[in-house]
Amino acid sequence: MTLPALDARLEAVLRLIRADIHADIGSDHAHLPVALLRRGHIRRGVIVELNPGPLAHARRNVALAGLCGQLEVRHGNGLDPLAPGEVPSVSMTGMGALTMRGILERGAARQVRPDAVTVQPNDDPRSLRDWALGAGYHLRAERLASGHWTYPVLRFERAEGPDPAYEGLPRDAARRYGPLLLREGDALLRRQVHADVTRLTPLAAPGRPAALELATAQAALTWLEAQPSLDAGVER
Ligand SMILES: C[S@@+](CC[C@H](N)C(=O)[O-])C[C@H]1O[C@@H](n2cnc3c(N)ncnc32)[C@H](O)[C@@H]1O
Repeated sequence: MTLPALDARLEAVLRLIRADIHADIGSDHAHLPVALLRRGHIRRGVIVELNPGPLAHARRNVALAGLCGQLEVRHGNGLDPLAPGEVPSVSMTGMGALTMRGILERGAARQVRPDAVTVQPNDDPRSLRDWALGAGYHLRAERLASGHWTYPVLRFERAEGPDPAYEGLPRDAARRYGPLLLREGDALLRRQVHADVTRLTPLAAPGRPAALELATAQAALTWLEAQPSLDAGVER
């Protein structure tokens, strides 16, 4: 059976995943793992769902796709249904960043620490970037995808030492907006930073949280504006 085409957000996530075995946590409709398998990005998959309705939804769509032999659906909380070392790659999409961070931290406490973690939180991804900095992961790729709002997509991989992605960047701006997106001068990111400066300026009385956020947005804007135009050197 044909499932609907992936939206821009899940398509951006799919493009960052290549693994022999991959687990999608909180899959619901299972569109992402089904597409990962059909398009040859993974060879086998595990789907973890906490809630009965989405669990049944995932089971139904995997069966309709004829993929029960390659995609195993497990009931459980976060990484709990995975054994240490069982799955080298994990994704979580469409949840809050703090929920995802909690899942990753509880997994690490049980020695479930996948080599690669790809996430698409529905809100500020700063807490996931901070988790990675403390948990021994480096940020390897970042994207922004258009949809109801602008969705961040991040891929982390386990690595030693300080993450080079942050070198030479204003720290708070890189944590908030993404070091790789800042370096690329991503067009959606530029729009987001400009919108934040406009929104925060009237709210930023000294000492208020908005003043800190505004300073972070202004640091990002200053950094972006100091970069040579991406068009420089392009022949017309
Ligand atoms: C908003 S849906 C996102 C579905 C899909 N991943 C997407 O991006 O379109 C979030 C899903 O995560 C599941 N979920 C939430 N917390 C979870 C947890 N701790 N472990 C496993 N699944 C969880 C919910 O049941 C729900 O199906």
